Amino acid sequence: MEVYSEKQHIGKIIDELKAKELSLGLVPTMGALHEGHLELVKKALIENDKVVVSIFVNPTQFDNENDLKKYPRTLQNDVELLKTVSDKHILVYAPTVDDIYEGNTVSQSFEFDGLEFEMEGKFRHGHFDGVGTIVKRFFDIIKPHKAYFGEKDFQQLAIIKKLVEKHNIPVTIVGCKIHREANGLAMSSRNTRLKPEYRKAAPFIYKTLKSAKEKFGTKSAIKVSEWVEKQFAKHDLLELEYFIIADAETLKPVKRKSIKKAYRAFIAVYADDIRLIDNIALN
Ligand code: PAJ
Repeated sequence: MEVYSEKQHIGKIIDELKAKELSLGLVPTMGALHEGHLELVKKALIENDKVVVSIFVNPTQFDNENDLKKYPRTLQNDVELLKTVSDKHILVYAPTVDDIYEGNTVSQSFEFDGLEFEMEGKFRHGHFDGVGTIVKRFFDIIKPHKAYFGEKDFQQLAIIKKLVEKHNIPVTIVGCKIHREANGLAMSSRNTRLKPEYRKAAPFIYKTLKSAKEKFGTKSAIKVSEWVEKQFAKHDLLELEYFIIADAETLKPVKRKSIKKAYRAFIAVYADDIRLIDNIALN
């Protein structure tokens, strides 16, 4: 499996693939790959001749130095894992910060019609400008026909769709279901950093989301939110940052339920100093 670290180099290979009229999928990741990432890669392999998996811990989307510093970096292991899925049809692009930012490691500013001001946008300052900058850059370099993103980061997926629409980027965005451990915990690269007692406690997040979904059938969003807040207030290890029930399209918090709309519950929780997010469709 080829691992490219320079955009010129992979750019040349991509031109050759395009000349042969092969279809190309892109799966952007920050590495420390797990089964959730592999599900995206497998889907991309079904729908495309070749798949580029980018592995890059993007500094401009972190608002917390410590989180960036401690983000797991396991390139060799990631490559071995990808080989188990397909040795022949995957290309890895693992650039350096310089290859991407050319000495100017800053984000571009984007407008995503207000999607960027909700939830993660409120709690992680500048995060979506960083995500928009890097994903747009990858679209420019790789020029994929399709790109794959997980519903695990539902707001990010909505923002990427908006980015493509606003900037007329010729790529189809494919959303993929959340992949969970048997105990319900959404897979995440950050899970590997959880101390044993926090790892044991973390499935409580999804368990609470499922109960919230059930309650939302008969109760108001405010009542359900109060119930969730109470569950976390009682919890010894997990600290709730936010629980929000929002319109699945605009991502605005719901005020009055309408049967015509789709709703989703979003949650961010601290397990020690590790921030975990999850979400669930409510109807
Ligand atoms: P990362 O957290 O590595 O995730 C890469 C992709 O895998 C994202 O689209 C994410 O939603 C998806 N993913 C992660 N865990 C998943 C799970 N349990 N089930 C389904 N999909 C899952 O998201 C990023 O990286 C970055 O922001 C990136 C888009 C690469 C830009 O830097």
